This record gives sequence, structure tokens and C-alpha cells, in this order.
Amino acid sequence: MANIPIPIPTRHARTAPPASPPTARRPGDRSPDRSAPTGLPPAAGTPVTPAVTPALTPAALRTLVSELAERPEEWIGKVRLSVGDRWYERLSGGPDHEIWLISWLPGQSTGFHDHGGSRGAFTVALGELEELSLGEADGELHSRRLPAGTVRAFGPAFLHDVRNTAGGPAVTIHAYSPPLSAMARYELRASGLRRTAVEVAEQW
Ligand SMILES: [Fe+2]
Repeated sequence: MANIPIPIPTRHARTAPPASPPTARRPGDRSPDRSAPTGLPPAAGTPVTPAVTPALTPAALRTLVSELAERPEEWIGKVRLSVGDRWYERLSGGPDHEIWLISWLPGQSTGFHDHGGSRGAFTVALGELEELSLGEADGELHSRRLPAGTVRAFGPAFLHDVRNTAGGPAVTIHAYSPPLSAMARYELRASGLRRTAVEVAEQW
């Protein structure tokens, strides 16, 4: 897969963050911490409210990106590279999750960011990346190499900085649940991470 040529367009469709087919949702994907049907009818006089779409678990999102990466015919032809910033395209989306395709040239990075409370997972489909994060236990900065085939999954409070420090381009597939609505950016200072900006979905 590493030998597949990637076209370089004169301009890219989008620059900044992360489809699975509509049938990707499967039994067992529902998060256990969201309310589930009790099987009991509502009491008389109880207003009928729309059902809240449960979020997918990190494990379910991991499965989505892993399986999609194994089907390059569904995304390889969409990949572009951008010299200005990471290139990205939303492959699919629905009420409970969305999937993004992102390309990374050497030197391109996200900076530290959260995911606005969404859960997520991503996999390196081509190339190699590096991920920086602060250890929950020690607060120390940790670096992790992410060679092709690596899958990372995380909960709603996770922060990281993902960068291409390798010598060639990389392609990743990301899944978020619920779909990304906002992302905060952070600066790493001696005292820790400091929030510096918030982006909302309309900006990307
Ligand atoms: Fe991220």
C-alpha cells in the first residue's frame, strides 16, 4: 500500500481536521453511559421527546477506522496533498459519528488540541506520524511513534498533538462521535497546557 502514488493537486478542497458507509453502525456500538430504552411505555402525561442519539464508544470507532483502512478502494482516490496545511475531507457523517480523511506532508502538524467532547479514533493508513500527549499520571510529555497500521482511540477529554516528523507523506482516517462540533487549541507551557483558541465546525 505504501507504493500507491498520491496525486498532488494545485489546490486542496479543505485544510484542517477528520466515512464509513451508512451500514457501519452495528449492534454493540452504543455507549453504555447513555440512557438506553427501558422497554417501559412512558407514563401518562409524559411529553414525548426525540430520542437522543447515543455516541459510539472509542472501541467501536477504532473498529470503524481499522476496517475502512483495509478498504483503500473507498478512499485512496480522494487523497490529495497540500503544501499550505494538512489536507482533509469528510468522507461521511451521520447523527452519531463522522469519518475524515487527512493527508500530512513532512512538517505538518495539528498542535495540541481537544475534540470538543467527542470520542475519537484514528489510524495511520500510509506513512508514519508522531503523537505528543501529557501523561495522565505524571503530567510528563510523552512521544509516541505511529507507524502505518497504528490505531489510536480516545475518550472525550483527550488532548494531543499529531505531527509528521517523518520523511514522506502520511494519510490517516479519523472517526468522531458525536461528530465534531468544536475543537480547542492549546499551547504547551512550563506550567502545562493553556487553552488559546476555540474553533467551531463552521470554520472547517
Ligand atoms: Fe486530534
